[in-house]
Amino acid sequence: MQRLLPTPALDVSLDEAYAGPLGSHDDRPWVGLSMVASIDGSTVVDGASAGLSSDNDSGILLRLRQVADVILVGAGTARDEGYGPPSKPGQRIGLVTRSGSIDTSSELFSSGSGFVVTTTTAAFDERGVDVIRAGADDVDLAAAIRQIPELAPGTSFIQAEGGPSLNGALANADLFDELNLSTSPAIVGGDGPRLVNRAQNVSARYELAQLVIDDQSFVFSRWRRRPAAEPSP
Ligand SMILES: NC(=O)c1ccc[n+]([C@@H]2O[C@H](COP(=O)([O-])OP(=O)(O)OC[C@H]3O[C@@H](n4cnc5c(N)ncnc54)[C@H](OP(=O)(O)O)[C@@H]3O)[C@@H](O)[C@H]2O)c1
Repeated sequence: MQRLLPTPALDVSLDEAYAGPLGSHDDRPWVGLSMVASIDGSTVVDGASAGLSSDNDSGILLRLRQVADVILVGAGTARDEGYGPPSKPGQRIGLVTRSGSIDTSSELFSSGSGFVVTTTTAAFDERGVDVIRAGADDVDLAAAIRQIPELAPGTSFIQAEGGPSLNGALANADLFDELNLSTSPAIVGGDGPRLVNRAQNVSARYELAQLVIDDQSFVFSRWRRRPAAEPSP
């Protein structure tokens, strides 16, 4: 891999390029999104992200998982792609759901790593499962994220892993502090969802913190949220 920004480097290792999150907050965990999309903006091929990925793309996802304290994922992605226990000891994985349709008999939950993030009104059997509740109709994601350190003490970096519907809700709440985006060198067509689905009136601006390319023409970018007070171009 070669890094073009911030310091040009002919060779950069994945660990160097993704050594940690791009920042932190005093009052809540820092939230980073990690996703892959095609040149034409689709996040899926044949209903899954695997067809867009590569060894370096999955290496980055795994590296950022090692850096993260908590993983947050939408119930749709968890149902479609399957989430097992994390390889990082003590890490927690939160599944966001409105319906409560979560298989809590899975290994993710029997390992003690899984937890559920849902609304205050969802009918969900909490026996044996850690649950964060916030918001009546939709999960109030800002409030839920502030509660995560109570469940997972010391959490400073949460990695969000999609999918596009959860991303839309996170973008609506302006919760993305950084975006770790892999651009897969393909046009795939179809009507697959973009990175962020159904977000309304979002105008958050980001600055490019890092740009890395590899010999398969994948482009790996890291974007940091531009503080609201700063003028945007
Ligand atoms: N390219 C990539 O990097 C990438 C990454 C991840 C996923 N994907 C792909 O994306 C697809 C899945 O995406 P998706 O958008 O359909 O699903 P998703 O965002 O993973 O999950 C949607 C579900 O999450 C819950 N949810 C989301 N926002 C919520 C809110 N504010 N309050 C309460 N619950 C909320 C709901 O769960 P309930 O239905 O349980 O109520 C909702 O149906 C899959 O094909 C997957 O392969 C691609």
